[in-house]
Amino acid sequence: MTMYLLLSLVVGVAQLVSSAADVTEFVDCGPLDTACECAEDATVCNFQFYVEYAFTLTRYNFSLPYLEGQGEHVYIDETGNFIVSQGGGKCMDGNFVKKTGESDGLYCNEVGVCMEKNKLCTEPITVDGNVLKMFLSVNKQFPGPTLIVHEGQIVAVDVHNNLSTEGISIHWHGQHQIKTNFMDGVGLVTQCPILPGSSFRYIFRASPSGTFWYHSQMGSQRGNSLFGALIVKEKEIKYPVSFIDNPASHTITVMDWYRQDPEEFFQHKKIAVGWLIGLPPFTAPSDLNPSLGYSITRGPDNVNIGTNAFWSALIHGKGRHSDVPYQRSNLRVYEVEPSQTYRFRLIHTGTMYAFRFSIDGHRLKVMATDGYLVEPMEVDYIAIHTGERYDFLLDTKQSNGNYWMKAETFEMNFGGSANPPYNFTDHKAEAILHYTGTNKPRSPEYANISSTPPECTQESPCKMLNCPFEKFHPSYNIECISIDKVRLVEPTPSDEMPDESPDVTYFMNLAGYVHKEAVSSINDKLFRFPSYPLTTRYEKNDESSFCDVNSECESKKGCKCTTVMDIGDNMTVRLVLSGVGRERKSTHSIHIHGHSVHILKVAYGNYSRNNGFLLGSSRDLTCTEDGDDMDVLDDNRCPNPRFRFPNTKISLDKFAVRKDTFIVPAGGYVVVQFRSNNPGYWFLQCLVDLYFREGMSMIMKEAVDKISNKPPEEMEYCDPFIWDVNDFMQSLENGNGCGSITMPSISAILLIHSVMALVIVL
Ligand SMILES: *[C@@H]1O[C@H](CO)[C@@H](O)[C@H](O)[C@H]1NC(C)=O
Ligand SMILES: *[C@@H]1O[C@H](CO)[C@@H](O)[C@H](O)[C@H]1NC(C)=O
Ligand SMILES: *[C@@H]1O[C@H](CO)[C@@H](O)[C@H](O)[C@H]1NC(C)=O
Ligand SMILES: *[C@@H]1O[C@H](CO)[C@@H](O)[C@H](O)[C@H]1NC(C)=O
Ligand SMILES: *[C@@H]1O[C@H](CO)[C@@H](O)[C@H](O)[C@H]1NC(C)=O
Ligand SMILES: *[C@@H]1O[C@H](CO)[C@@H](O)[C@H](O)[C@H]1NC(C)=O
Repeated sequence: MTMYLLLSLVVGVAQLVSSAADVTEFVDCGPLDTACECAEDATVCNFQFYVEYAFTLTRYNFSLPYLEGQGEHVYIDETGNFIVSQGGGKCMDGNFVKKTGESDGLYCNEVGVCMEKNKLCTEPITVDGNVLKMFLSVNKQFPGPTLIVHEGQIVAVDVHNNLSTEGISIHWHGQHQIKTNFMDGVGLVTQCPILPGSSFRYIFRASPSGTFWYHSQMGSQRGNSLFGALIVKEKEIKYPVSFIDNPASHTITVMDWYRQDPEEFFQHKKIAVGWLIGLPPFTAPSDLNPSLGYSITRGPDNVNIGTNAFWSALIHGKGRHSDVPYQRSNLRVYEVEPSQTYRFRLIHTGTMYAFRFSIDGHRLKVMATDGYLVEPMEVDYIAIHTGERYDFLLDTKQSNGNYWMKAETFEMNFGGSANPPYNFTDHKAEAILHYTGTNKPRSPEYANISSTPPECTQESPCKMLNCPFEKFHPSYNIECISIDKVRLVEPTPSDEMPDESPDVTYFMNLAGYVHKEAVSSINDKLFRFPSYPLTTRYEKNDESSFCDVNSECESKKGCKCTTVMDIGDNMTVRLVLSGVGRERKSTHSIHIHGHSVHILKVAYGNYSRNNGFLLGSSRDLTCTEDGDDMDVLDDNRCPNPRFRFPNTKISLDKFAVRKDTFIVPAGGYVVVQFRSNNPGYWFLQCLVDLYFREGMSMIMKEAVDKISNKPPEEMEYCDPFIWDVNDFMQSLENGNGCGSITMPSISAILLIHSVMALVIVL
């Protein structure tokens, strides 16, 4: 008893001290700041996001107010120079660089004209050099600024929706949001969308540390480039290898990019999956020859991957459409010095295609994934799917010069040869690794950089981490390492560690097309967003539109409902996510909010020895009660599968890799486990945008009676919401359940604690 009281006294004092020492840094993060770092000693880091329309192949003059900033279209000529197209002239020529020794924010060009930072023009946003189109920007940048904070800091991001018609919400991908479920940024699940003209302050504690990203969680806005990297630096890092960590210059986002607005693309796709309209996407319907139909591309395992025709791909916002010659392109250049070891952070921010990532002349030593440090593993390729992150170390042991960095799709060209190895299509994003001993390459020199991809031979096969299938046919000489072989460096702390045998197990089958209708579902259910956010106005929803993930749909064609999985407090939860059944299979990239799960097992289907093609689903699972029908897996959509042999042993130890985003291979399954120690409504979704939009998502309703920190009342309505950070901190520390208005002040709490202590001692 006395112990408790003494403790509460100490807590009270600590609150006072911490509040006295609070330092809020208002981080300067405008259109010119592509990476913005918060000082290590700040307690609170505040960033401003202005979400607004912007154009590719354009640069902006952001003399205040930059939001209305005038811009000019630019293109690159044959000699690699940026040319202002007609109607330009808003920006002066010249490259303004920061003048050293001058007062902060003064930038000068070669001819000595100096200007304040906020009167400058952005770099041209060239993207793939081909498409002039509108996109959704954060502070007129593409990608949005890289935010760099430190583990444990309070991050407060004021998001201003300066769009005219669309609601937005920003998800902090991979951040656990402990006690702040309502800051997870899932529009209609954890908050009202931020309405046009409105603002919302996200506040959360930066945890865990590592490589993350932020992105819109409304509709397909993420694919319209409403995203950026979020780096949480470790407090201290214990790693067997030492390295240089400079996330401002060594963060690599990779993505696929399209000519159309993603929403238009999705709407088009919905009717044009190939059965109804026999024309390639975006062709005028003049020739109705069905043989012109766009054929979906497939990977080395013959599984569908390119249901959206590939257009181009970008590395950190820059790339080159195949129609654009090198000299007229503008690629991302990553600078390094020789004889060093660098940490690079790779993030897949795309929507459809997985990539094979490699750097010519270098091997990649994988050191972390999704925020967890892993035992170093040297590979030639990292396979990365949408939403995943891999940090790798790069030894710069080559001689000075330039080396290609490539992110290539898995699409094959089966046309030429009867047997494997088939050729990959040449669909890729390119960037340049540049050793600083020579001049930074300009675009006329790009074409002269030689291509030296990893040499994969029978004697020394290449290694690829995280292939979306079990293995390549032997003729490719590429060995796949599955993600469950990766081991953590630090054991998982015991309070986060699930038990080895689960308290509950959920099976979730991710199905593709059903009855020739596009139905990307989980256990036959297409997700329907609730009418009111669950965190703030749960009871306003019509519960009859909710369904349990295990329930059966009335119709054989599946059903559309708000799928919910109800989990109790402090349980060991096992999820078995599968892609089995006869219907058209695809690989999925699944993201779980609010948790990092241990990946216990990745299992695969049955592949042909002749050509490496996927033949059928894994026989470990069955779709029937009795489990004896060997063919049934290949005969239906398999809602609610189960293990054919119920005592299938799956082991777990505290070094098993933890991730928040992982690939579920077509025809196979993944077993993950976690402890339900974070009460809230957590979204679970496929990150392949097309499948997500069709309905492949659901909500984990986790121990919601244990939610101690309720969202403030003001969040119930779709009003502008800028919460005072001190109120937030108090609510976080005390779990008051009432929000900001009714909160007693810190000193009042201290007083109560002290009085209580006194009373008992007396
Ligand atoms: C941006 O516009 C302002 C105001 O029109 C002008 O003074 C300034 O020179 C422009 N900046 C550049 C780099 O051209
Ligand atoms: C953008 O939104 C913010 C917050 O609502 C507002 O203060 C600002 O005036 C808006 N800017 C423009 C250009 O509309
Ligand atoms: C495959 O690629 C190789 C090397 O680029 C080329 O020589 C060959 O013609 C290609 N085969 C087919 C069938 O396209
Ligand atoms: C590229 O290589 C070609 C042939 O080797 C050479 O003629 C040309 O000058 C080089 N261009 C540049 C910009 O280095
Ligand atoms: C959760 O359950 C484990 C046993 O499975 C127990 O050791 C632990 O104390 C529990 N944690 C809480 C917070 O109740
Ligand atoms: C794999 O597929 C082949 C061909 O359909 C079949 O004969 C074989 O039994 C399957 N193997 C397994 C383990 O399912």
